[in-house]
Amino acid sequence: MEFNVKSGSPEKQRSACIVVGVFEPRRLTPVAEQLDIISEGYISNLLRRGDLEGKAGQMLLLHHVPNVLSERILLVGCGKERELDERQYRQIIKKTISTLNETGSMEAVCFLTELHVKGRDTYWKVRHAVETTNEALYNFTAMKSRKDEARRPLRKIVFNVPTRRELTTGERAIEHGMAISAGIKTTKDVANMPPNICNPAYLRDQAMEIAEQHDNLTIEVIDEAQMAELNMNSYLAVGRGSQNESMMTVMHYKGGVPSQNPVVLVGKGLTFDSGGISLKGGDGMDEMKYDMCGAASVLGAMQSIAQMKLPINVIGVLAGCENMPDANAYRPGDILTTMSGQTVEVLNTDAEGRLVLCDALTYVERFSPDVVIDVATLTGACVVALGKHATGMLSNHNPLAHELINASEQSSDRAWRLPLWDEYQEQLESPFADMSNLGGRAAGTITAACFLSRFTRKYHWAHLDIAGTAWISGGKEKGATGRPVAMLAQYVMNKAGVETED
Ligand code: BES
Ligand code: MN
Ligand code: ZN
Repeated sequence: MEFNVKSGSPEKQRSACIVVGVFEPRRLTPVAEQLDIISEGYISNLLRRGDLEGKAGQMLLLHHVPNVLSERILLVGCGKERELDERQYRQIIKKTISTLNETGSMEAVCFLTELHVKGRDTYWKVRHAVETTNEALYNFTAMKSRKDEARRPLRKIVFNVPTRRELTTGERAIEHGMAISAGIKTTKDVANMPPNICNPAYLRDQAMEIAEQHDNLTIEVIDEAQMAELNMNSYLAVGRGSQNESMMTVMHYKGGVPSQNPVVLVGKGLTFDSGGISLKGGDGMDEMKYDMCGAASVLGAMQSIAQMKLPINVIGVLAGCENMPDANAYRPGDILTTMSGQTVEVLNTDAEGRLVLCDALTYVERFSPDVVIDVATLTGACVVALGKHATGMLSNHNPLAHELINASEQSSDRAWRLPLWDEYQEQLESPFADMSNLGGRAAGTITAACFLSRFTRKYHWAHLDIAGTAWISGGKEKGATGRPVAMLAQYVMNKAGVETED
């Protein structure tokens, strides 16, 4: 997709389609008004006859409107003017893009970016229009033998901004929006890939492919032999039942001065989680191919960061592993000595994510991180607590927690903080080892984070539980969402001091 910004009046546009808004009830936006005037009331006539009320998401496609240079006008219902918020704005753009793509307009000039959205500026509106456009056009077809694509797909879209002064802002917003969308697409593609193809080595290969396209991005791979040398026994135990070798891929992005401590992102990369000996039930087990979404989002975020050439050092760790039942698999009752030296009694082999992450989190101490953020589809309990709308966030450092919440608001990729109080730590007590890997039924997301917190004492750390947000479950809409790439990218952009406002 090609994106552009322009500042012009609607009657001068010569395009396949021009997109303008109509508010409820039947109220023309100023741009629609201009078109109405030159077409001698053509549009207001239609509205009067009841063709379009202006409800949010309503679409009316007009052809050859008198005196208008563009072939088509797409009238888009924007709901009540005063109620237009971020969510509604994104929904309207999404529907608009699908309509354009399905009705044969290969190019369009869109004036919806001029709408007033509560509390949001031109930068935000253009960037989110770009991100939403890519979202609307995403399709996972890699594994289909016949790919049916739109006959005349949308190729180019121009977003209009109110004044010429805002053109540079708009261009910056497009660049950022495209970089974030590219990362999101990578995350979705890798996450949607089936687990017979997407294994830990596949994650490594994807990282290498991205590194080849960027000068200051390099890859380091820790295989099982190296993990053994490092005493990453907990990580290794989880992968022991699998024929696919465990593999930790470390991506180094150097955009800052060498002396600057890096932001470290660590992603849970369980390319399949069967539960192991504590085998999961059969229903929906296929969706445990998505248990690598943490790693996939770290990969996508690294790509976005590299594409924007952000002036900051970032390290991304993809903790690749597969959890399978097998004669060689680890079992309930086993006691593991983690890389940190702390021992863990395994009470359930399905609580494997924390066992992989704890060693990865110890490993990254060597980078003297400024902050560490791990991303994981860690607990079913998080889906119960927050559903599919918010990512769960827990942190040992208040300023970091606040910065992440801010980034999540700015990016419309929301997170909600849960407490990490010491009281919850008791639930991890074991009679035989330093701790167990199970915290009982109560507050499962918090006790999982408590477990991780015992391995992150040496730095500022936040944990993102994306079990509810990383993919849409079941049904027709099933698929990876690409979350929380937008939030992570925004966090790093803020940290790097990049302007993301007008
Ligand atoms: N990957 C799962 C968590 C999960 C489950 C994410 C469902 C999304 C949807 C994780 O490895 C797991 O199995 N967690 C267990 C932990 C329990 C055994 C303490 C869970 O949530 O049931
Ligand atoms: Mn599990
Ligand atoms: Zn898991």
